[in-house]
This record gives sequence, structure tokens and C-alpha cells, in this order.
Amino acid sequence: MGAGIAQLAARSGANTFLFDPIPEALQRGAEKVREGFEKEADRGRLSADEAAAGAGRLQTVDELAAFAACELVIEAVPERLELKHELYRQLSEIVSEKCVLASNTSSLLVTAIAAAASKPERVVGMHFFNPAPVMRLLEVIAGEQSSEQALALAHATGEAMGKTVIRAKDGPGFLVNRCNRPFGLEALRLLQERIADIETIDRIVRMEGGFRMGPFELMDLVGIDTGLEISKSFYEQSFGEPRWRPSPITARYVAAGRYGRKTGRGYYDYSSDPYRPPDPDPDPDPPARADAKMQPALDGVLGRILCQVINECAFALGEGVGSAQDIDTGMVLGLNYPRGPLAWADEIGLDQVLSALDGLWEKYREERYRGAPELRRLVHTGRLGRHTGAGFFEYSD
Ligand SMILES: NC(=O)c1ccc[n+]([C@@H]2O[C@H](COP(=O)([O-])OP(=O)(O)OC[C@H]3O[C@@H](n4cnc5c(N)ncnc54)[C@H](O)[C@@H]3O)[C@@H](O)[C@H]2O)c1
Repeated sequence: MGAGIAQLAARSGANTFLFDPIPEALQRGAEKVREGFEKEADRGRLSADEAAAGAGRLQTVDELAAFAACELVIEAVPERLELKHELYRQLSEIVSEKCVLASNTSSLLVTAIAAAASKPERVVGMHFFNPAPVMRLLEVIAGEQSSEQALALAHATGEAMGKTVIRAKDGPGFLVNRCNRPFGLEALRLLQERIADIETIDRIVRMEGGFRMGPFELMDLVGIDTGLEISKSFYEQSFGEPRWRPSPITARYVAAGRYGRKTGRGYYDYSSDPYRPPDPDPDPDPPARADAKMQPALDGVLGRILCQVINECAFALGEGVGSAQDIDTGMVLGLNYPRGPLAWADEIGLDQVLSALDGLWEKYREERYRGAPELRRLVHTGRLGRHTGAGFFEYSD
């Protein structure tokens, strides 16, 4: 991630220093940046001169002291709090008063990282998506003590790098990864109850929902072991939120060493190519298909996953984790959702979504299916979605 971020910084015109305590890793990173610029020139995104100038703005350094004159330091060291703490302690003694320290952490609390800095208000989150030079989204995260100046600098830097920047409040998974939690967890629940098998769930989510990958394919790609660790950290950081309880199925797969693509076997067996049958030909009637995607049956498979995603987005909105527009932008640009879940809910009808959730709550009597207060508030005030002129968003047409 560090090399990708350095490439973006140098490309935006900033004099960029790259540091890694392992000399081979530092050289590999610098090489990756050079290759990245060459690729951009080959694809015509930059002229040869621009690519050479970009690469020329990157300098590798072999000690942190080289950061003394920097206005912004972006950290992408491994995801261990004690390692980050040590680095923020060292940096606090090196950089100037005004320098902003940004972490690319994906699962630690920015507030917890900032605790080691001499001025926690200068610490913010800059969460890039992988691969950083390609993905269009940047999530800027406000820790409890982050100053507005530090956040503004991170935001402006992201825009100078060509990113669409969304703002999020600190908390488990920030905005995008938090709102996406039910995509995997609800699919696992459907599997646990034997409502459908893995291939069927994935196929319906792809074919009916318009997602590029089904939840099980995605979990295999991320790594089931990594996913379980993330689930545990959500559950711990929230002191046991039932919506985020890890699935016992993932724990069994991890115990069996079936971590996903990286071990050749997870929910799918990757020793055969292709690992799943191809999808049937798309429906030849495009408008009907588009309608079907827009209005999935809420009691079907896809509907249950979608309602839970919408519900999580509504919780995040109600808790002030991000704006409705930032939630939808984040899900589309960060995770390739076919459309923003909140705009999708406005098309379906918020009363329909809430009634599907209440139906699940009636059936299971589990807190994980409680409707978000923000969703209930909108329904009670008659903001039922596009057909009433307002829902999560306002409509003038
Ligand atoms: N990989 C992803 O998809 C992804 C996406 C978003 C965010 N992140 C976050 O980015 C960070 C890095 O992830 P990664 O996948 O690039 O990890 P990585 O292990 O591939 O790279 C980390 C690099 O940091 C170096 N390092 C170790 N100690 C250091 C120190 N004290 N100072 C400077 N460099 C040091 C290591 O030598 C290594 O080269 C983590 O916080 C992770 O959560 C990763």
C-alpha cells in the first residue's frame, strides 16, 4: 500500500519521501512506483515527460529524520497497534509543529493510534483502497481529537491525488467497511440456516443484484482468516454488537486451514479452473432485468442481504459516521456496488425495507434484525423514498 500511496503523492506534484526499515522492501517499493509511472505512460494517462517528472519527485530515505520538513506523513506499516505507536512516538519528535500524521489503517481506531503522538489532534485516517493508484475512493477519518485543519489537509491532498474523498467518523470499519459488514455476515447466516448453498447465494447476488462477485467469492479473495480477524475486531470494538457477531462457519473454515484463494481452497476449490460454473446468459430483455435488479423480492435471498446492508447504512447515518451521499459514494467507488444502498432503498421504498426487517425480527427475535432508528424515523415521517419525493435523499422529479 505504501508504494501505491507514494506514487499518488509524487504524481500529484508533491516532493515525496519513501521510508521502510527493510532496505529490500524500500527498493521494491521504489521499483513498484517506477513501474507504476511507466504503466501510466504506456497507457497514455501521462505523457513520457510527466511520468519521468513524477518518478523524479520520489526519493527513498533510510532514516525517519528525513521527514523533518514534511507537511504530511502517510503511514502504511503493518496493522499492529504497538508498531504504529512506536512510529508515531518517533515521528512526534522529528516533524514540525504543523505536520499532519495520517494512518492508512483499515481496522485499528485512529483515536487509538493517535494516543501515542505528542499532538493527537494532528493525527487523522487516510484510508486508501487496494490498489491505491487505481481505486478512486479515499476515506478521510476523524479521530476523537483530530483537528479540522488536519482533516482539511488530508482531504485536499486526497483531491490533489485525483481521489473522490468521503469523510468518516472513527469507529469499527469507519464508513465503507462497516456498511458492507452484512454482505458477508448475512450470506453466512443464510448458509448456516441452509436456505441456499454457497454457489446459489453467490449466483443470485451476481445475477439479480448486479454485483461483480458474490459474498463467498469475495470472502475467499480477501482471505477467510483475515475476514475472521476483522469480524472479531468489529465485535470487540463494539463490545458485542449482535449485528457484527462473527460467524461460526468462518471459524470452522479457518480451523481447517481453508483460508480462500491463497490456500487454494476456501468456500470454493481453486484447484479446478474455472472454480465455479459460468453464469447463464443474461436476460435478453434489458429493461425488465434492470427493473428486477432495482426491485428485488425482499423475502428472497438477495433481498435479505440487501435489507441488512441498507439497515447498516442507516445505523451509520443515524450515528453520524458519514453523510448519505458519502455512504453511497463510498460503497460504489470503494466496493464496486452496482448502486448506492441508500438510493437503492429509496427506489424500493423505505417502508418495504423496514417491514422486511421487522418480519425478520418477528421470525428470529434477534437484535441483529432490529431496524435502525434512522430508517424508522424516516418511515414515520412519511419519507418513504422516491415515490414520496423524499427518503434518504430529496427528489424534485
Ligand atoms: N493491503 C490492503 O489491501 C490494505 C488496504 C487498505 C489499508 N491497508 C492498511 O495499510 C497498512 C499496510 O498494509 P500492507 O498490506 O501494505 O502491509 P505490508 O505488510 O505489505 O507492508 C508494510 C510495510 O511496512 C514496512 N514497515 C514495517 N515497520 C515499519 C516502520 N516502523 N516504518 C516504516 N515502514 C515499516 C514493512 O517492512 C512493509 O514493507 C496497514 O495498516 C493495513 O491495514 C491495507
